[in-house]
Amino acid sequence: MTVLSALLYAKENFDHSIAIRYSCRMASCGSCGMMINGLPRLACYTQVNEFSASGLTVGPLEHYPLVRDLVTDFDGFFSKHQSVVPFLVRENQAEQETSESEYRQNGAELDEFLQFSYCIKCGLCNAACPTLANDSGFIGPQALGQAYRYVADSRDEGALLRLKKVDSRHGIWRCHFAGSCSFVCPKGVDPALAIQRLRRLVISKSKLDRPGAPLMPVHAAH
Ligand code: SF4
Ligand code: FES
Repeated sequence: MTVLSALLYAKENFDHSIAIRYSCRMASCGSCGMMINGLPRLACYTQVNEFSASGLTVGPLEHYPLVRDLVTDFDGFFSKHQSVVPFLVRENQAEQETSESEYRQNGAELDEFLQFSYCIKCGLCNAACPTLANDSGFIGPQALGQAYRYVADSRDEGALLRLKKVDSRHGIWRCHFAGSCSFVCPKGVDPALAIQRLRRLVISKSKLDRPGAPLMPVHAAH
């Protein structure tokens, strides 16, 4: 039995008022994140019998405003996600409107960002982040991971836009590299690595910006 099934059983049989958010029941939609024995986890992806010795305690995700019981407010989370321009940007907008447009990519180019594209926006990484515990304005590991996902995509031309956003007071330099975001991610995404790579790109870019420096596309600076 999963923790989600147990909670639904409790809701059906003992307390109809328990508030839970869920949808897919298969670790795909990212809706059922909660604190389970102190760690952010997906309730549909966690087995009750893991805790047969210790007992099981659930609570709402940390670092999010509480709505009720196990439901937290994700508006701020999605605003931060949107702030990093999480889609392919092309300098020629008209090109994207043409159905004949084709953006080719080889296997090595795909590997640059593939793991980051597995993010289901469950928000567990942000709940685990010690920086977000002290700085609610921090962009956070999820959005920074997605900033890198598009910066690293060879089809994208919006890297400078995103690097400017993340190279800010509440951006990449606030990360202490605790690595807890990557530890709790249920999809194998490594936001801590993404933040390190964004830092490297920002530093490379500032060197390239020096007068007399050769022009170089961002993808070449990885
Ligand atoms: S990076 Fe992982 S933990 Fe964070 S929102 Fe995406 S899937 Fe969830
Ligand atoms: S219910 Fe969809 S991820 Fe758990």
